[in-house]
Amino acid sequence: MKIKNICCIGAGYVGGPTMAVIAQKCPEINVTVVDINENRIAAWNDEDVENIPIYEPGLSAVVKEARGRNLFFSTDVEAAIDSADMIFISVNTPTKTYGIGKGMAADLKFIELCARQIARVSKNDKIVVEKSTLPVRTAEALKNILDNTGNGVNYQILSNPEFLAEGTAVDDLMNPDRVLIGGDINTEGGNEAVQALVDIYAHWIPRERILTTNVWSSELSKLTANAFLAQRVSSINAMSELCEKTGADVNEVAKAVGMDSRIGQKFLKSSVGFGGSCFQKDILNLVYIAKSFGLNEVADYWHQVIIMNDHQKKRFASNIVKTLFNTVSGKKIAFLGWAFKKDTNDTRESSAIYVADYLLNEQAEIVVYDPKVKREQVYADLDYLNSRSEDENRQRVRVVNDPYEACKGSHAVAVLTEWDEFENYDWQKIYDDMLKPAFLFDGRKLLERKKKEEIGFEFYAIGS
Ligand code: NAD
Ligand code: UDX
Repeated sequence: MKIKNICCIGAGYVGGPTMAVIAQKCPEINVTVVDINENRIAAWNDEDVENIPIYEPGLSAVVKEARGRNLFFSTDVEAAIDSADMIFISVNTPTKTYGIGKGMAADLKFIELCARQIARVSKNDKIVVEKSTLPVRTAEALKNILDNTGNGVNYQILSNPEFLAEGTAVDDLMNPDRVLIGGDINTEGGNEAVQALVDIYAHWIPRERILTTNVWSSELSKLTANAFLAQRVSSINAMSELCEKTGADVNEVAKAVGMDSRIGQKFLKSSVGFGGSCFQKDILNLVYIAKSFGLNEVADYWHQVIIMNDHQKKRFASNIVKTLFNTVSGKKIAFLGWAFKKDTNDTRESSAIYVADYLLNEQAEIVVYDPKVKREQVYADLDYLNSRSEDENRQRVRVVNDPYEACKGSHAVAVLTEWDEFENYDWQKIYDDMLKPAFLFDGRKLLERKKKEEIGFEFYAIGS
């Protein structure tokens, strides 16, 4: 079966970049990315390709090449579903904020809405691909809805979880460690559908890196991969606290440990805590699933990864208060970085938000500089927590476009994101313009301690 038309529902951090790369690599396939968010679609269609809604190194060039040729962004969801042979569902699956499973389970309402819309609109057979991260056995529910509310056409459901990380999305998509495709491999129709998706990826990915499994293994592998990755960060962060008490240096420990080829070097960078839209949500979902099967030890084991992460954010913030003579009331604290990691404008679950909230509760004044995050986003993130009025957030937090302005007149500077540019600043100038003693808190272990101490900073870094 040759796929000619793809529709992707959801033009977000996954749908946008993934479809842009598929379109670039498969010029004979028409790819239409649809979304109900009109502003987002308008931004994807902006004449100036630098204004696309997602910042990812290399992404604008890919979009520039394919957009208007075989890559289209549209709000006409039904038309795109109707003409597609293959439909990717790439909508958000956030943690539920209401009802049963509140604060733990994945909210599948957007997924279900997509399934019902596909069922209503489709007039010919379709392959439906789960691109969103979903609880294991979601494909069963999807199939049920499609088969029972549809127009009698046939559906094959595939699971094709996305492993890209933000900030490196284009590289990850061009050269993935593996692509995972789960399908009903025991039936002819299922096999054909799997093969059709394999053929798409095989345009640029070596066949041996395209892994096929049953649907449930594929769904569960995605949750497992994120849980393992997050667990490494929590493990090294747990050690960072012990390092601070003992004179060990967490970077040195990570290097020594990571050189054991069984452990490996990657994902052992201690930080102010992991953020991003995936790790916390997916682990909470995993914990919820384990609990729902009565697997309490399994649930508790993974839950500890989140507990450790919350502790890391809190202890970074409380250390600032403690070090500033036990009060930050009325003191100006400059934040370098707001994004959850470098090279992205995404701030979802960023540690910076929680550190800021803690310090605002202690009556601090905060000034934020981030190279890619917009002012309105910082306020939206704080307002979402509902800790204080929107007016108060705007009075007590300032967002500026210049790092030197952010730091000027501050009691302390805190590094929350590991943007490369931070290390290259004129730190002497920053020091000269600060109140003394000038405190510097490095939540990313990014800055070189010796130089900063020579300038005169009181320097604190995670894990040493
Ligand atoms: P996102 O919020 O950036 O994008 C989702 C988009 O779907 C939004 O623009 C929203 O308007 C749209 N949408 C929701 N319901 C819709 C509907 N019924 N019709 C049309 N559009 C609809 O989310 P994301 O970060 O792209 O994540 C999408 C999925 O991919 C999630 O399940 C996530 O867990 C998973 N994932 C994310 C990442 C990542 O790094 N962000 C990586 C791997 C997997
Ligand atoms: C993650 C997974 O890596 C990716 O495979 C999945 O598809 C989506 O979730 P993402 O959240 O975009 O990707 O970024 P990632 O690089 O994993 O970083 C997540 C958080 O962990 C960031 O806040 C990052 O700063 C932090 N982190 C990561 C560390 O603190 N230390 C590390 O060693 C690695």
